[in-house]
Amino acid sequence: MFYEPKDGHGLSKNPFNSLVVPRPIGWISSTDKNGVVNLAPYSFFNATSYNPPTVMFSAGKGQVEDDGRKDSLRNILETGEFVHNFTNWDTREAMNQSSATTSMDVDEMAMVGLTPIPSKLVKAPRVKETPIHFECKLIQTVDLPNENPNNKYTVVFGEVIGIHIDDDFILPNGEIDIAKLHPISRMGYQDYSEVTSETVFTMERPGFRE
Ligand SMILES: Cc1cc2nc3c(=O)[nH]c(=O)nc-3n(C[C@H](O)[C@H](O)[C@H](O)COP(=O)(O)O)c2cc1C
Repeated sequence: MFYEPKDGHGLSKNPFNSLVVPRPIGWISSTDKNGVVNLAPYSFFNATSYNPPTVMFSAGKGQVEDDGRKDSLRNILETGEFVHNFTNWDTREAMNQSSATTSMDVDEMAMVGLTPIPSKLVKAPRVKETPIHFECKLIQTVDLPNENPNNKYTVVFGEVIGIHIDDDFILPNGEIDIAKLHPISRMGYQDYSEVTSETVFTMERPGFRE
C-alpha cells in the first residue's frame, strides 16, 4: 500500500508508530520555577549527536493546562534544564504510570513511588531506581508545522552536560553491560520490546575503528 498521511491510512489504527521501531524512551524529569517535580516518558526521543552529546524529544499538545503545553515542555522553557532517566525492564511499570495525565502541581515521581536524588549540574532530580542519567541544558525548541491545533508538537533539543552511570553496569573491559541494563523500547500500539543478551548481535562496520 501507499498512502499520503494527509488523506488517511485506511487501516484500523494509525500504523505510523509501528513503522519507526523500536524507539528509545526518554524519561524526562524537570521542575517548574517553584521546584515542583515532573516526570514523563517520551518515545519521540533520541540521541542527536556525539560530541557534544545531545538528545531530543517531541512533546504533543498538553490536555490539562490552558497554555496547551505538556508540563515537561513548560518546565524546560521556564528553567532551561531537564534530566533523561534511562528506561529499563525494572522501571517499566513506573515509567508507564508516570505518563498519567495530571495537573502541573502533581509530582509524578512521588506519585509512582520513585525516589528523587539530586543532580550535580541541574535542579531537576534524577530517578534513583534507574542506573543511567543524562543531565541536560536546553539548546532550543522547534515548533513543528501543523494545520490542526490538536496536533501541535514541539521538539526539545538538549545538550547532555553530565552523565551518571551506575558503576555496577560497567564491565571490566570498560563497556556498558547491556544484558544487566536490560533496556526497553517502544513499539507501535501498546507494545514494547526488551533488549537481552540473546537479542544483541555484533557486526563490524567496514573501515570503522572506535
Ligand atoms: C512509553 C510512552 C511514550 C510516550 N511518548 C510520548 C511522546 O513522544 N510525546 C508526547 O507528547 N507524549 C508521549 N507520551 C505521553 C506522555 O508521557 C503523557 O502525555 C504525559 O502525561 C506527559 O506528561 P507531562 O505533561 O507531565 O510532561 C508517551 C507515553 C508513554 C507511556
